[in-house]
Amino acid sequence: MNSLPIPFNRPSIGRSEYEYIKKSLDGKLCGDGSFTKEATILFEKATKAAGMLLTTSCTHALELAALLCGISSGDEVILPSYTFSSTANAFLLRGAKLVFCDIKTKTMNMDENLLPSLITNKTKAIVPVHYAGVACEMDAINEIAKKYGLFVVEDAAQAVGSYYKDKPCGALSDIGCYSFHETKNYCMGEGGGIIISDRKMRERAEMIREKGTDRISFLRGEVDKYTWREIGSSYLPSDILAGLLCAQLTRFDEIMKKRLRIWNAYHAAFEPLEKKEWQRPFIPEKCKHNAHMYYLLSPSPGERTGLIEWLKKRGITAVSHYEPLHASPMGISLGYGIKDLPLTLDYASRLIRLPIWPEMDDESLQRVIENVLTGVARNI
Ligand SMILES: Cc1ncc(COP(=O)(O)O)c(C=O)c1O
Repeated sequence: MNSLPIPFNRPSIGRSEYEYIKKSLDGKLCGDGSFTKEATILFEKATKAAGMLLTTSCTHALELAALLCGISSGDEVILPSYTFSSTANAFLLRGAKLVFCDIKTKTMNMDENLLPSLITNKTKAIVPVHYAGVACEMDAINEIAKKYGLFVVEDAAQAVGSYYKDKPCGALSDIGCYSFHETKNYCMGEGGGIIISDRKMRERAEMIREKGTDRISFLRGEVDKYTWREIGSSYLPSDILAGLLCAQLTRFDEIMKKRLRIWNAYHAAFEPLEKKEWQRPFIPEKCKHNAHMYYLLSPSPGERTGLIEWLKKRGITAVSHYEPLHASPMGISLGYGIKDLPLTLDYASRLIRLPIWPEMDDESLQRVIENVLTGVARNI
């Protein structure tokens, strides 16, 4: 057995990625060219999620969402603390107060049962994050939002190709935001997408994304010149990057199948760990996941750190994940208390993510499995 390093993540770049990028250099290089259009079509074909606008990142898609919801100073936005800073920054940038919601212990997703107790007359939006590509309880979340007249913005950064009751994540609510960052299942280096259910809101998004102008209408031949119509920014990626995404999307099923193979192998091999109180991911029956991530929850933080070190010494990169936002330096400076969300804090301190990438070969896969099992058996 070789001992080459096993990275945590490696994007799947095949011949088609080189070909698409080469072709994209012959056309328009700026945004909203033919590859941007093709990416939207391929995305719908692959996921059933229609009408995605490509953006420069999921971070920017979330910022666009906050602008679309008209978030302003004094508004409150409910989100999990167990997420990436971008989920919070997007709303903080508009002056919102962040209201953090604790998580469910089986999926690490926002606990929808806590939402009614967090809603006030200042609440404007709920932002569920589909952690590890496993959907939140969207029926319940949408129902609560409807009752209180709130927007729902899905952070589906990790959930491209995931489903809730056969409907695509990111298209389950008012607005959904995706990531095509290098670390995600389908990548364009840096990139993202946004899906907006309301037609008028989508038209506004097209302008906000293009520096507040109606350039997209001009490109469609609907107006003979374009002008400044809205507050806006530059949220559209170059057509060269869209070309890279097109190549990835033509390989959608292949990439998904390869990731699922690794995920399923881990899941079967680690079943015995549950007797030792290590927890495996849980997929609710109504959810179809995209094998974005494979994680284990150790019985204690020390055992998590021990396993990371054990694997590192054997050339295997395994990593923790989000440091809860409420307990981060920024969270503390905003006035949150470290102990505000006990489950989030506890689970985040015990989570370890294992290497998963499409071209991971059997030998590497077995090396990770054997070293995890021996590491845990030795009690590290
Ligand atoms: C939940 C979540 N939201 C947003 C982002 C930001 O995505 P991007 O890097 O595309 O801006 C990430 C990045 O990993 C994420 O995990």
